[in-house]
Amino acid sequence: MDKNINIDLKLVEYIFSHTSNLHPIQKELIKYNESLGHIKRLQISILQANFLQFIIKTRNINNCLELGTFTGYSTLAIALSLNKNGKIYTIDKDKEKNKIAKIFFKKAKVSNKIKTEISNANDALVRLIKNKKKYDLILIDADKENYISYFEKSLKLLNQNGLLIVDNILWKGEVINNNAKDKLTQKIKKFNLHVKKSKLNKYILPIGDGFYICWK
Ligand SMILES: C[S@@+](CC[C@H](N)C(=O)[O-])C[C@H]1O[C@@H](n2cnc3c(N)ncnc32)[C@H](O)[C@@H]1O
Repeated sequence: MDKNINIDLKLVEYIFSHTSNLHPIQKELIKYNESLGHIKRLQISILQANFLQFIIKTRNINNCLELGTFTGYSTLAIALSLNKNGKIYTIDKDKEKNKIAKIFFKKAKVSNKIKTEISNANDALVRLIKNKKKYDLILIDADKENYISYFEKSLKLLNQNGLLIVDNILWKGEVINNNAKDKLTQKIKKFNLHVKKSKLNKYILPIGDGFYICWK
């Protein structure tokens, strides 16, 4: 039997009290997302955001791309950890959520590090490839139906030492439920198999809903 403890919110608070505390605007954004009801689950977990902050600070990551801004929690975490020249380009098709995200970016005084785009992720990726853009870190957290396409396109945008991180790959544990026949579970399982078969280096970080972390 493997030994993994269950990390509840109290333990998360303990972890933060022994490392570095959340930024006040991160706390405010978490509270705001809580007020949204069931869609609050779209936000990456606090520990996942914290992990992104750790790798950005320790790997000299400057240039980031994100698919799936939502209300800005993951974007904000990334922006707060970038050095003064660091940038994050974040894409989402939802105009209203983008307005909210921008309010929080402004409050946290990181708007200068963030460029948002309201568009379909696939179209944006095609254009970024055409413009020969390159990124040190790419976070894929948009619609799960298109994960394979986002993944393949993102690889073309990744710097040699870059990290490609994909969220929700454990799908609340449903990936091992053989009775789960719904479309999204099947899509995630197909995506995970696709990554498994790729020649990339890979690691699964089982926090939040699971990060697949890949590098060349
Ligand atoms: C899981 S949420 C992102 C959560 C965000 N990373 C966070 O931590 O708060 C997924 C987002 O992807 C966006 N999305 C879904 N399909 C999309 C598409 N085809 N192109 C661009 N954005 C899309 C949704 O509008 C939603 O805001």
